Amino acid sequence: CVRKLTNDLYWVGADDRRLALFENIHPIPRGVSYNSYLLLDEKAVLFDTADWSVCKQFLENVEGVLKGRKLDYLIINHVEPDHSGSLPALAQACPNATFLITVQGANELKEHYGDIFKTQIVKKGDTVSLGKRTLAFQPIPMLHWPDSMVTYCPEEQILFSSDAFGQHYCCSKLFDDETEVENMFFEAQKYFANILMPYRKLVPNTVKLVRSLPLKMICSCHGCIWRSHIDDILSRYESWGKGETVDRVLVVFDTMWGGTAAMARAMIKGIEKQGMRVKLYRYESSLKADIVSDLLTAKGILIGSPTQNSGMMPTIGGFLTYLKGLKPTGKKAAAFGTYGWAGGAEKDMEAMIKESGMELLPGYNVKWRPLPAELEAAEQYGYDFAEKVSKGE
Ligand code: FEO
Repeated sequence: CVRKLTNDLYWVGADDRRLALFENIHPIPRGVSYNSYLLLDEKAVLFDTADWSVCKQFLENVEGVLKGRKLDYLIINHVEPDHSGSLPALAQACPNATFLITVQGANELKEHYGDIFKTQIVKKGDTVSLGKRTLAFQPIPMLHWPDSMVTYCPEEQILFSSDAFGQHYCCSKLFDDETEVENMFFEAQKYFANILMPYRKLVPNTVKLVRSLPLKMICSCHGCIWRSHIDDILSRYESWGKGETVDRVLVVFDTMWGGTAAMARAMIKGIEKQGMRVKLYRYESSLKADIVSDLLTAKGILIGSPTQNSGMMPTIGGFLTYLKGLKPTGKKAAAFGTYGWAGGAEKDMEAMIKESGMELLPGYNVKWRPLPAELEAAEQYGYDFAEKVSKGE
């Protein structure tokens, strides 16, 4: 399943439609692709490898295109195992290849696999000649790891962008204009929110750099190849990087006996009355990747849990732990729920909301089960929360 992209450039990656969780945490209902590219000039150069689980297919693809030629260079844009897992096998199959990598990448490579590879360090502005074409290297540290870099081929006007601009999506068609592009944007937003959100402040500068390059294609390591919607994906990255939002609030909750669920439903009525858009998620029956994707562009979030064993429910604890790592700053947040005798969930949730970097607003909590008057108050609470979010108070 090799794809020819231009006269001398081939997609030699592999898809995995069976994996349920990427990094053992992110649900990937549309699968994951490990995009690797092979360019045949006077020198043959491969851009990244693939996860070990697809190594056999990946090596067959590479060998099928090389047809006995030797591989001269391997560009290692990123060391994370989804791109380096097949590296030991590739190194055995192509013993003459020189690995071009950032200094951080070379260290990470040693720390992952031992000091077994022949590497050549490249830094910002370095170039290498392939014959008719050249490659220029630009580190983009922390998008996604310290080692990350992008590689540009000016003669082809192609950027090999590593994780940046990727999506968890197995595309039967590779180009953005061969498939339903809205699905690509949906998955790109989810990818950005769940993988790159902690580093999003670095994104606008990267977009600026990418915009300075004449571009016919952006070849990411995951998902589709951008060629017809380059400006659109760059604008979206810019916007997500700057933390731009729409008028939307999320209500995310778990419940034991239905009291916290009833409060959530009352609150969304109030939020809607105020005019703000709202999305309701019962945490246990939702994909957290989808919630976080919506949170990326939301202005606020209400998080609900009843008290269980003097604290919040472990489901909501897991969600808040996840948010603490993602640091969704620039949002307003509050906690709500029911409690029996001593309480505890509210305190737990509020502490973790603060740790996540969101702005904590006062919450609303009810003893035992919300009675009609308390549900009315919950609706009013939703209205007031939406008002504060809307006015930026
Ligand atoms: Fe696709 Fe950060 O690895």
